[in-house]
Amino acid sequence: MRSLIDIVDFSVDELKEMMDVAIDIGNNPAKYSEACKGKKLATLFFEPSTRTRLSFEAAMWELGGSVIGFSSASSSSAAKGESYADTAKVISCYADIIAMRSPVEGSSYVASINASVPVINGGDGGHCHPTQTLADLLTIYKHKGGFDNLTVGFCGDLKYGRTVHSLIGALSRYNNVNIVLISPKELVLPDYIKEEVLEKNNMEYVEVTSLEDNIGCLDILYMTRIQRERFDDPEEYERLKNSYVLDVEKMAKAKSDMYVLHPLPRVNEISVKVDADPRAVYFEQCLNGKHMRMALILKLLEEKAKDPVIVDRFAGEKLLINRYRCTNTKCISQNEQELDQVFKVVDEENNVCRCIYCDKLA
Ligand code: CP
Repeated sequence: MRSLIDIVDFSVDELKEMMDVAIDIGNNPAKYSEACKGKKLATLFFEPSTRTRLSFEAAMWELGGSVIGFSSASSSSAAKGESYADTAKVISCYADIIAMRSPVEGSSYVASINASVPVINGGDGGHCHPTQTLADLLTIYKHKGGFDNLTVGFCGDLKYGRTVHSLIGALSRYNNVNIVLISPKELVLPDYIKEEVLEKNNMEYVEVTSLEDNIGCLDILYMTRIQRERFDDPEEYERLKNSYVLDVEKMAKAKSDMYVLHPLPRVNEISVKVDADPRAVYFEQCLNGKHMRMALILKLLEEKAKDPVIVDRFAGEKLLINRYRCTNTKCISQNEQELDQVFKVVDEENNVCRCIYCDKLA
């Protein structure tokens, strides 16, 4: 039995299979309308969401299954201090599969090793958001026919934007993908993604501050919101919140086949006037997200039926238990009862180790 915690949990071939299923679902919805009859999805949302939670719920209903869950931490026993591990064990008694979101980094992984049903990470703090990446990949695939040789620009909050981190991880496995990182210097992509994803995979990338000067070379522009809820300093957010606005004038400088994606919600970083441009595909992306989540639910339930034993995503890795302590205050290892501090050795020669829950360096 597998879960989806990080997009790299699936191979490139598996992603292609899921995209093909999602396209078939879009073309032939009736064929899938009883595929999950008698199955229940639990949506455990400890943090706000419109698209992820409701697209998961719509996905399960359209597969003929049903849905239970909660949409805020305050309406669950998390408000009384219940751990993620215990919550996962309990919900496994009520549902066949779990989709969850939390502000705590590593929480979905901890849930997955305690649940007896598959767990899907619907966003864990500023860390990962793999099902948004499924929506992003299908949208790019439909418009570009693949991922090789693309120049992809990421604009906005690259520090806290978990959708950016997950999509870069996914793109790193295709050929000759060039990355243009457009952000204020305060919100640059974290070093660990530059070093261990971009550089390790020999991906060409540049870091720039101007959208206007760089939009003309892009095949895909991935706009993001400045993530107010992740800032420790509200004044810094106020200073940076209007760093980028994509408008009709900037779109005029882009290629005629450059597509604009955005995980949404939009605050004001894309003018509503851009919505009418056929290159603006961020609402189509939401529909693609529902179809990919349907394909994902089908895949994980099929795998569970074949083999219900939990597959730990760190099985076979060199792990150091309680040797270091994670210093990330948003990491689950700071909060969860009696959780071991576990670090993965990523570079033995240079003694580079990362927390398995949040990827912070030791
Ligand atoms: N893209 C995305 O995760 O949207 P929600 O926060 O509304 O789920």
